[in-house]
Amino acid sequence: MRFMGWDLEAVLSSADPGLFGQLLAAAEKNRLAFRGDEVYVRGLIEYSNQCRRDCLYCGLRVSNRSLERYHLQAEEIIELGLAIYRAGITSIALQAGENSSDREVERIAGVVSELREKSMQERPPGLGVTLSLGEMTYRQYKRLYDAGAHRYLLRIESSDVQVFKRIHPPRQVYERRLECLHYLKDIGYQVGTGVMIGLPGQSYASLAADLNFFVEQDIDMLGMGPYIPHHDTPLAKARDYIIQDAFGTSIKMMALARLMMPDINMVVSTALQNINPEGLRLGVKAGGNVVMPVFTPQEHQAEYALYPNKETKSLESIRLEVESAGYRLCLSKWGDSPHYFNRQLAAGKKEGLA
Ligand code: 5AD
Repeated sequence: MRFMGWDLEAVLSSADPGLFGQLLAAAEKNRLAFRGDEVYVRGLIEYSNQCRRDCLYCGLRVSNRSLERYHLQAEEIIELGLAIYRAGITSIALQAGENSSDREVERIAGVVSELREKSMQERPPGLGVTLSLGEMTYRQYKRLYDAGAHRYLLRIESSDVQVFKRIHPPRQVYERRLECLHYLKDIGYQVGTGVMIGLPGQSYASLAADLNFFVEQDIDMLGMGPYIPHHDTPLAKARDYIIQDAFGTSIKMMALARLMMPDINMVVSTALQNINPEGLRLGVKAGGNVVMPVFTPQEHQAEYALYPNKETKSLESIRLEVESAGYRLCLSKWGDSPHYFNRQLAAGKKEGLA
């Protein structure tokens, strides 16, 4: 698979530092030309680590009994969200383990609409709200959209069906995940997806196919990061790794994604920042233009353990790192994905022709 002279698989598997430098420089040039130097901020609230799923890689999996579970009250989430807004950050992301009961969805819809209303009263345009709550029914996604959420992140984890099967229990199926992504787009969300990089059994060809998957799915937002084994999960025992350098490969994936999809938003994942002190700097240089500082209450941060030793950085240290890379942190704008608007425009034109 090729893109503008780059052989995706060859670039991803190459250990040549010269090629790495060339790719990074091309991505940075493209990003500065099309998107400028702004890096948008989403204040992240991980409001519950209760999860019904049993993903073989994730510390929050229901079978992990050694994890203390927490679940923030609606009032607490609203207070946190408004405090983030008052600190000048205009967008938040609500993330939690999967609990898609109608009762829980209703509770969160209430949280979202109250956050939208109260923040709007304080100062327009109000809080931008991104959700990352896993798989739901069409009706549930629609309920949250109608409540005022406008972006949704749902990683495909790997678009390679064999890899997907390898890292999930049999009842969690690829087709269902894909269907959810289609629901989200149909409802009108800005849709984000992504993959983990360096999974057991995952090849460079799988990663090249992931990049094509993002293009084909016409996604608006992307979040990718290295897979970090968690000792309390079954996948930690795996030995069949093909990708040796998950960090360097993640940076290359970001750079290629930036070249292939100039108008999407791309987050510098916390996993990338956690496995390497250069993660944020290189992630931004490779084309990352969104960061998600953690605002989960201190006492619960360690319990949101997707992977071990998850560290959180203060907004100030994030700002310093972003600036040292030559970019600017932008709190005041929603920083929506231009791809979303370009996509709406294209759809409108098609309709006009029909
Ligand atoms: N290493 C890296 N990323 C992980 N995630 C879950 N577990 C891990 C891990 N062990 C990511 C998944 C999920 C997101 C919330 O966190 O991609 O979609």
